[in-house]
Amino acid sequence: MCGIVGYVGAQAALDVVMAGLKRLEYRGYDSAGVAILADGGMAAAKKAGKLANLEKELGDRPLPTGTTGIGHTRWATHGGPTDANAHPHLDNAGRVAVVHNGIIENFACLRAELAERGHTLASETDTEVVAHLLAEEYSACADPAEAMRLVCRRLEGAFTLVAVHADEPDVVVGARRNSPLVVGVGDGESFLASDVAAFIAHTRSAIELGQDQVVELRRDGVTVTGFDGRPAEVRSYHVDWDASAAEMGGYDYFMLKEIAEQPKAVADTLLGRIDPAGSLTLDEVRIPPGVLREVDKVVVVACGTAFHAGLIAKYAIEHWTRIPCEVELASEFRYRDPILDPRSLVIAISQSGETMDTLMALRHAREQGSRVLAICNTNGSTIPRESDAVLYTRAGPEVAVASTKAFLTQLVACYLVALYLGQVRGTKWGDEIRAVVRDLAEISGAVQRVLETMEPVRELARSLAGKGTVLFLGRHVGYPVALEGALKLKELAYMHAEGFAAGELKHGPIALIEEDLPVVVVVPSPRGRSVLHDKIVSNIQEIRARGARTIVIAEEGDETVVPYADHLIRVPATPTLLQPLVTTVPLQVFACELATARGNEVDQPRNLAKSVTVE
Ligand code: F6R
Repeated sequence: MCGIVGYVGAQAALDVVMAGLKRLEYRGYDSAGVAILADGGMAAAKKAGKLANLEKELGDRPLPTGTTGIGHTRWATHGGPTDANAHPHLDNAGRVAVVHNGIIENFACLRAELAERGHTLASETDTEVVAHLLAEEYSACADPAEAMRLVCRRLEGAFTLVAVHADEPDVVVGARRNSPLVVGVGDGESFLASDVAAFIAHTRSAIELGQDQVVELRRDGVTVTGFDGRPAEVRSYHVDWDASAAEMGGYDYFMLKEIAEQPKAVADTLLGRIDPAGSLTLDEVRIPPGVLREVDKVVVVACGTAFHAGLIAKYAIEHWTRIPCEVELASEFRYRDPILDPRSLVIAISQSGETMDTLMALRHAREQGSRVLAICNTNGSTIPRESDAVLYTRAGPEVAVASTKAFLTQLVACYLVALYLGQVRGTKWGDEIRAVVRDLAEISGAVQRVLETMEPVRELARSLAGKGTVLFLGRHVGYPVALEGALKLKELAYMHAEGFAAGELKHGPIALIEEDLPVVVVVPSPRGRSVLHDKIVSNIQEIRARGARTIVIAEEGDETVVPYADHLIRVPATPTLLQPLVTTVPLQVFACELATARGNEVDQPRNLAKSVTVE
């Protein structure tokens, strides 16, 4: 997820673009850059770090004034957050500049082709190939929109692209596939941006680009075509949000927005992970396959929500690879003098990549000679930098303190790592891996369906605002989901909430059950491991008989739970191991709504911080 701005009009483009980037900084903030068309040429500046670094650079080395320009604030995916990898990217002649949001899956072969034709590429990004391809196509057709269409037809993946060419000083072109891009139509000026927040100070008249469309932006209007060149129907609308609501896409809180972004975050995390030969690839692996084949133990270290992702990973890793897997709270790990050696693989999971407990755990593991694989959402942060291998989740920046979309993408990444280990060690065949990846690809749609049916969950949450305690039960992969549901409720609603393995109930916690106590039960699928399902149905009966108010999360079509559910929350059917990807979502919505009903600050709960950089 990155923020993109384009402008053509009568104002100083740099001012408009920089103000737009400021409003989009929530979309990414690890580097930023701008390109302005002025004096018949292209002037560009870019800098790693927050927008403030770019502002300083522009103060030290001002750009000439022009009225056409583009800008970008980055959340790194391909290539770390460095000056060279920051956008815009230019062609070798410095006549084309392009900014990009998304992932170009076939960039490696395009890059090889360009190198063969004598192009020199200066960054590690997937984006830079587009600048070079646009320059080639423009030199043949002298039409920036046509050049963009021709290039887009060669790209695979998800992308928003915005480009300028020095030979066309009054034109900005944009393109969109599976990634957002909105046009702003002003009086004698036009805008392009990842969302309306960037230009709402100038105009409220907007056009949302459709899938696979190219837009040519001029001062006096815009022309929209499909990638095939056919004129496209333009859908205009009036933006009635104010600037701060626009930053949150019209949602009241970042957390709500981030919950809603989960289908895309899950799909993005899967993008480009399987090569044309059907093999899984991770982002950076500096561990030889021979070493991975020798691994005799996996240890997952993480904190909080990321720890819950690790608990779920254990089921997949042990089932698919038959390697024993331990999951440990990072804050406890090194103090118990864990048994580690070069045959142990440590997986460190962290959204921020800066959590001190997790960092210290991974350092300890490396001191013992173990290899560390990081699953992280923040490109270039300390944890992936200090690890031997990395798989980045592609949730985009998570602003709300309570982790939601990062958790779901951590799960996807854990499944991919488990499959990758299975692939390297030969415990999973290629067709089995492809079948799981196909199942994972369907999860994005399933999460979307869950999100569309959440009104009864919100209503239920509001009705429980006066309660003091909520319990959560689960079995198998549903147990960590129960823990995550309880954690979300504690941190957001400040309520007493606890998650239990349902089988443990009779060993103590059942004493807590009293009349009308809300108990959320995550029910595994009745298909597959039916014994698990039957056991949890018995647990529901046990607590209901003692007066609990049962809130049951169960697969669509599972009728056996109906008689025992005071409230029934349906989720689409998924393979057993993947079920946490759908069952967690209602619990996030539940906690968020309950917190709101209790008047709590959802995005910044009391006493908490987004990145915990102390032990
Ligand atoms: C809970 C939450 C925290 C984090 C934990 C680890 O909603 O967000 O429990 O999961 O602090 O943070 P990262 O993943 O950044 O290491």
